[in-house]
Amino acid sequence: MLSQRIAFVIIFFVHIAYVEAATSNSLSDCQAVVSSFRTTINYTASNITATTGVNVTCSQSGMVCPGQTINGVCVWKRKLSVVCRNASGIIKIRIQTNGLPPRCAAVPMGTFAELNVDFEVNFNPSVSVKSLNQNFSSISTLSQAICTLTSVSTVPTASGFVNYGTTTLNTATGVSVDGVMIFSPDSANNIDPFYPPAGGTAESVDACLAHCQAAGIYHYHIGTGCQVSLPTGNVSSCASVTACRSSVANYSISSFSSYQTKTIIGVAKDGHLIYGPYLSAGTRVTSGFDACNGMFHDSNGNYAYFATSTYPYLVGCFGPANYPSFGPNCTTNGPSSYTMSSYANAL
Ligand SMILES: *[C@@H]1O[C@H](CO)[C@@H](O)[C@H](O)[C@H]1NC(C)=O
Ligand SMILES: *[C@@H]1O[C@H](CO)[C@@H](O)[C@H](O)[C@H]1NC(C)=O
Ligand SMILES: *[C@@H]1O[C@H](CO)[C@@H](O)[C@H](O)[C@H]1NC(C)=O
Ligand SMILES: *[C@@H]1O[C@H](CO)[C@@H](O)[C@H](O)[C@H]1NC(C)=O
Ligand SMILES: *[C@@H]1O[C@H](CO)[C@@H](O)[C@H](O)[C@H]1NC(C)=O
Ligand SMILES: *[C@@H]1O[C@H](CO)[C@@H](O)[C@H](O)[C@H]1NC(C)=O
Ligand SMILES: *[C@@H]1O[C@H](CO)[C@@H](O)[C@H](O)[C@H]1NC(C)=O
Ligand SMILES: *[C@@H]1O[C@H](CO)[C@@H](O)[C@H](O)[C@H]1NC(C)=O
Repeated sequence: MLSQRIAFVIIFFVHIAYVEAATSNSLSDCQAVVSSFRTTINYTASNITATTGVNVTCSQSGMVCPGQTINGVCVWKRKLSVVCRNASGIIKIRIQTNGLPPRCAAVPMGTFAELNVDFEVNFNPSVSVKSLNQNFSSISTLSQAICTLTSVSTVPTASGFVNYGTTTLNTATGVSVDGVMIFSPDSANNIDPFYPPAGGTAESVDACLAHCQAAGIYHYHIGTGCQVSLPTGNVSSCASVTACRSSVANYSISSFSSYQTKTIIGVAKDGHLIYGPYLSAGTRVTSGFDACNGMFHDSNGNYAYFATSTYPYLVGCFGPANYPSFGPNCTTNGPSSYTMSSYANAL
């Protein structure tokens, strides 16, 4: 009898522990994330590019216009759908975007294109600190993974990633809540675009910290308050804003001054959330993340990426990863160390 009772008590507590450690990936958890996105429709389109969209107007001159210029004003349509569904018990999130921003962008030359991005992935899948997706054992293996632009083309199988769109997503790590693409932290030269190692050249971005690549895909490599709050009027170049010019990394963090709490800024291609620089009210994430920039950030074992002032800034690779004692060789702005969060330690 006593042993039965002890067994019951053990089962009871194991059950409680299991319930407490459940990842937040219910249908309603997913729908709460959808509400963070600036969607233009609330259903999955057969072709996002063919939807009506919502007009964005910009009277800025010297910008490549991704729509029509009417009386000197550029007008384009942004198109964004984010929908959750229950696929036989697995909650999936489908994101469709034409990639155009809800604000002016300073794209001074080249192309600025409308995209057809459309993918579905398991929403916030359960992952474990004991079963890593990446376990780097040397500077060389870490650098090859984090510093190679296309290494994010492979999404962990457990995420169930399916690409339905026509835009190539090889260098994308996710989509921001404003519908703009988030890219790997690397430039086309496989180095930090902002703080390159000796011999490398820094790339320029606009004051919303985004720019276009060769095919005209407007994208972020680093977090910015523009993702969650629309700047009014024109958006100049980062170089013309003193604080941005002197430190893109610090400007990135300071742009979240009105969002000093846990704030969703995007969803990664592996189904995990991407948050701004704050873990909770006033507490900025400066440690507790792994080599991918991901972190076990609560007692439920939820794993997400955070915006940091150090390379890889948003999503360096698809984690969870280990906490190596060395950093990648393609930046002069890496973290001083990687440490487990208190939550990761307790799991
Ligand atoms: C979708 O949006 C339409 C109009 O914008 C609204 O009437 C409808 O209730 C919404 N549907 C859902 C499921 O939110
Ligand atoms: C989607 O719609 C756009 C605009 O109408 C069209 O150019 C494109 O061919 C369509 N794509 C597919 C795959 O049907
Ligand atoms: C959106 O802009 C187009 C011009 O590109 C215009 O014809 C149309 O009326 C605008 N739609 C709305 C809802 O303002
Ligand atoms: C934006 O720039 C255009 C010219 O590039 C100028 O005419 C307009 O006044 C500017 N708007 C604001 C709000 O500064
Ligand atoms: C999701 O689907 C599964 C199986 O089809 C069902 O058991 C479960 O209740 C559904 N969950 C929700 C939140 O609808
Ligand atoms: C990571 O790899 C090291 C060997 O390089 C091994 O000792 C360690 O257990 C691995 N960690 C995990 C969580 O798999
Ligand atoms: C970084 O390390 C990788 C792998 O060893 C190497 O291929 C690359 O050339 C190195 N890059 C720099 C900038 O030193
Ligand atoms: C950001 O600001 C901090 C404190 O003001 C400074 O120590 C750090 O070097 C700056 N980082 C960059 C990348 O400029």
